[in-house]
Amino acid sequence: MSENNQSAGSRPTGLYIAAAVVVVVIIGVVVFMGGESSDPQTASAPAPSAEPAPALAPAPVASTANIQDGVYTNAQARRGDKLYAEHCSLCHLPSMTGKEPAPELAGDLFMSKWLGQSVGDLFIRISSTMPVSNPGMLTEEQYADLLAVLLQANNFPAGAEELKADQDYLDGIKIQAN
Ligand code: HEC
Repeated sequence: MSENNQSAGSRPTGLYIAAAVVVVVIIGVVVFMGGESSDPQTASAPAPSAEPAPALAPAPVASTANIQDGVYTNAQARRGDKLYAEHCSLCHLPSMTGKEPAPELAGDLFMSKWLGQSVGDLFIRISSTMPVSNPGMLTEEQYADLLAVLLQANNFPAGAEELKADQDYLDGIKIQAN
């Protein structure tokens, strides 16, 4: 009889690898916080203003002169008289009452046209249109002297300061009744 000998030869050899290595590396990050944290209460606190807000400053250019306070001098008007006699009176007459077609330069009719305008407006009018034959022939100072004549002839008072031949300044002087 034969015997079947089976030899149970091979056992499964299990290689059990149970080596799991977990390396946890913790990297600590050191953050410098900038060590100089100054006290926020004292750092750059605005200084309290000791003074109250100043009142509005006057406008730098425009004149605040009041025509009723005297914006030309008598001496200036006398200079203007000569210029008027030379360059204006032929048409507007020495009395300034005018002669057609030249209108009067003193009186109610003249004032009704110019009240509410400025001395600067009148300055432009005469310096750019008079005398008719040769507008602009005189200097700005001479036209300012003629303005003084016109103001005096319309009963605006003389004062201590001459009328300046400065457009901005003259623009600030309103022609107004008192
Ligand atoms: C040749 C004549 C003539 C001469 C010279 C003359 N004017 Fe006139 N002027 C006139 C006439 C005409 C008008 C009105 C028409 C016009 O404006 O052109 C007038 C108008 C005026 C006005 C405007 C008056 C208003 O009612 O608004 C003024 C101001 C004036 N002249 C000033 C002068 C002065 C200042 C001079 C001298 C530098 C002068 N004129 C020389 C003829 C003259």
